[in-house]
Amino acid sequence: MDLNELAHLLTRIESEAAGAVSEARTADALRAAESKITKGPLAEAMKSIKSFAAEERGQAGQNINKTKQLIAEKFAAAMDALRAAGVASERKSASDFDPTLPPARTLRGGLHPVTIVQREVERIFSSLGFAVVGGPEMETEFYNFEALNIPAMHPARDAQDTFWLTNGWLLRTHTSPCQVRAMLRYGPPIRVIAPGRCFRYEAIDASHENTFYQLEGLLIDKDISIAHLIAFMKLLLREVFHRDVKVRLRPGFFPFVEPGFELDMSCAICDGKGCPTCKRSGWVEILPCGMVHPNVLRHGKIDPHEYTGFAFGLGLTRLAMMKYGVGDIRILNSGDLRGIVQPERLGGAKV
Ligand code: PHE
Repeated sequence: MDLNELAHLLTRIESEAAGAVSEARTADALRAAESKITKGPLAEAMKSIKSFAAEERGQAGQNINKTKQLIAEKFAAAMDALRAAGVASERKSASDFDPTLPPARTLRGGLHPVTIVQREVERIFSSLGFAVVGGPEMETEFYNFEALNIPAMHPARDAQDTFWLTNGWLLRTHTSPCQVRAMLRYGPPIRVIAPGRCFRYEAIDASHENTFYQLEGLLIDKDISIAHLIAFMKLLLREVFHRDVKVRLRPGFFPFVEPGFELDMSCAICDGKGCPTCKRSGWVEILPCGMVHPNVLRHGKIDPHEYTGFAFGLGLTRLAMMKYGVGDIRILNSGDLRGIVQPERLGGAKV
């Protein structure tokens, strides 16, 4: 071989390398093509050096090395280009992220329906000048019964099946003990509400639980009459339901009020048609109320000749059921997240 022939050969090898570079689409293909050329025709060219005339060998070697280097650079540049393209395509797929897609669903917590209603009623009465007070869930017989004009042998005790504790105390059967506690603590005039948990030894069904929430209201001042009572009750229901609610007022007996009333609202679960929640009557007892009995005022160290007042015992749990259409009271105490997180979705037992 002479230098002229070698030049032709090297040009062919270079163009072969250029073709391989432009065809390779992946790093692996590029590496394979490079090794095929260096181990094939380039190696052959090196071997051919010994067939050169002695004085041309040096030049031949230099020429081959030049081509070798050129080809190596070409492949290296091609490899770099391929890598850069790969990064760019990764970037492109990142920019394919669509921010308008709906997010993955996460379950969010929320307030319990009874808490929502309680806070709403607290807000309404706070704006009317009432203070929000509390009271113990473990009560004495005195505050739960005696002070409320329900002496030991009175048949009214039978109406409130009681959990008695071994220490002679009891789990309060209503929030009414807060009435006398407030009278003794604050003295007249009084405007308080007392929300809280109550307990009764009940047979459990769609509308009865052994654990439920009430909200006691008490207003004591001079010249308070039934007209005030009714006005407050109507305002309360209108604010909670954001509409005029159909109500009926019946005489009701509670030893601690005189006169006493049962204020019922039209059942919101069945629209007054009759369902298990309203015991098929179409009405739900929601607001027992009345004028505070003189004996109760006396227990609270208030002169009944000077002061009068009204009291009510709003059934908070019932109110939450009516407001959110929860047909079964047991759901509210069950920890069933469907009832607690999104009560309006539950629909209730619409029978
Ligand atoms: N505490 C009574 C009950 O739970 C309700 C009530 C409260 C009635 C206040 C009249 C006045 O049955």
